Amino acid sequence: MCGIIAAITQRNIIDILTKGLKKLEYRGYDSSGLAIINNEKNIVRIRCVGKVNKLINKVNKKKIFGTIGVAHTRWATHGIVSKENTHPHISSNIIVVHNGILENDALLRDFLKTQGYIFRSNTDTEVIAHLLHWEQNKTKHSIKNVIQDSVNKLHGNYSMVVIDKNNPLELIAVCSKSPLIIGLGIGENFIASDQIALLNITKRFMYLEDGDIAVIKKKDINIFNKNDFIIHRKEIFSNIKYKTVKKGKYRHYMEKEIYEQPVSIKNTLENRLNKNNTINFLELGKQEDVLFCKIEHIHIVACGTSYNAAMVSKYWFESLTNTPCDVEIASEFSSRTLAARKNSFLITISQSGETADTLSALRQSKKLKYLGNLTICNMEGSTLVKESDYYLSTNAGIEIGVASTKSFTTQLTVLLMLVAKIANLKKINNIEKKIVKNLNMLPNRITEILENKQLIKNIATQLFNKKHMLFIGRGEYYPIAMEGALKLKEISYIHAEAYAAGELKHGPLALIDKDIPVIVIAPKNTLLEKIKKNIKEISSRSGLIYVFSDQTFNYEENVNFITLPYVETFIAPIFYTIPLQLLAYYIALNKNKNIDKPRHLAKSVTVE
Ligand code: G6P
Repeated sequence: MCGIIAAITQRNIIDILTKGLKKLEYRGYDSSGLAIINNEKNIVRIRCVGKVNKLINKVNKKKIFGTIGVAHTRWATHGIVSKENTHPHISSNIIVVHNGILENDALLRDFLKTQGYIFRSNTDTEVIAHLLHWEQNKTKHSIKNVIQDSVNKLHGNYSMVVIDKNNPLELIAVCSKSPLIIGLGIGENFIASDQIALLNITKRFMYLEDGDIAVIKKKDINIFNKNDFIIHRKEIFSNIKYKTVKKGKYRHYMEKEIYEQPVSIKNTLENRLNKNNTINFLELGKQEDVLFCKIEHIHIVACGTSYNAAMVSKYWFESLTNTPCDVEIASEFSSRTLAARKNSFLITISQSGETADTLSALRQSKKLKYLGNLTICNMEGSTLVKESDYYLSTNAGIEIGVASTKSFTTQLTVLLMLVAKIANLKKINNIEKKIVKNLNMLPNRITEILENKQLIKNIATQLFNKKHMLFIGRGEYYPIAMEGALKLKEISYIHAEAYAAGELKHGPLALIDKDIPVIVIAPKNTLLEKIKKNIKEISSRSGLIYVFSDQTFNYEENVNFITLPYVETFIAPIFYTIPLQLLAYYIALNKNKNIDKPRHLAKSVTVE
């Protein structure tokens, strides 16, 4: 969590830092700040609580100039949201911005207090700043050597950038299991938590790896490990287009990303569907078939929306490939003693590839006897991709809205392809061909529903002032209900819960009254008759019901139908997601909420 950007340049860096921070706001937006060394060789630090725009206004009023500086957008972990807790943190000549968590900060803080340091914030970052200062005072070493000497004392997963005011010719970047990427310029260089922050200034990047300490000057970059050996990191050229991360004609990134789904899914399918209705995953290499044939159990680990995608695929893996599948929330996977099943294969799913809980689960799984692991991820070059045996890209394109939309549907698309592939290898007749035929239709079917948004807009005006909502579904529509409820609570702050429709009578039915709308996802399938009974149970208790279905059935007045076109079985769960995304979006719009940056949340959660 938290976003870092830093630069050492020929020109004034203010614009680079502030524009970069705007792009990193998805990582946290509780407060933000920057510090530069100005022409008079003094530190100028500006910080404020709230969104990056507030900082930009403050900075613009001051007309400052500098060619070396760091900036940070914060998602609070240690200490409340306040100016004092906002980065950069300074200890005399040492300036630090930091992302991640220091696990032993309390011990270090106590020690540093005995050395006379006074703490102005509750952050672990200020502990780092004072520690580096203390170490430098003691050893008189350069800041790079001080950092090399100190990293063993810093426990946790983090990344940071440090400036020593007494040597304003270099930035020092440290990567400890939390991402940092160097942007290469001409006579100037940059560093950020994500390349997105730098795409308007460079396309050339270098990813730092765990344990790297980089010394970044205007004209050269040297990367060391803690034993002072020089390390070489590959330069990559980014194909991501800067313009793809602009909102364009849309009011919010979330709206744009909902509407991008037909194209994103086309990109996900591209080069993976063969003319003879089979699937190829060229990126998995030749081992793929041998490996997949051995799989007797699939274990999927993920968080948030990615977890909901995993839950849908559990139904697919079991019913279509006859492979037992368990899905687990990543933080729980890492919180218990695990017993891996025989010939089990681990799949992680993540939009960002940086979610700390998912990464930690992957690392933990390596101590167990899984056949191997694969990640389904949207961010090439992310830590999860780098640390996984296999990688399938969702190709959704950059997603900025904190509430995931196109990531979810593209994850489901990849999962469905994987299901088809495994069904074929297990010689389960016709499944692969049927899935491929369905997938080919998916982008157009989604366009169809997007064109009918008015239907959903009308319902949103009826529901936006409700305080609670229930979402129910059966089979693979239960996790779709979970995703609908998650979207709603994330961006509208309406309390929303999802239940397996059959479970309603075991408790939640007690909640039913006319003030709690129940959203029912009920396409025509083998479970429809059962869910109809659940609808009756609610309607006879005067519940207010909204049924999303391709069917209408005769019911009392309190049952409203949102009639959707019939959609082919395999892709229907993906299709039914779209109206629920739109519903959450238009409800939040009616409530005038900050849709792209909901309170207390961040897109990339890099702390456990
Ligand atoms: C955060 C985001 C969610 C996301 C979850 C998992 O909580 O706000 O939208 O679903 O992390 O993220 P990942 O990048 O691993 O899919």
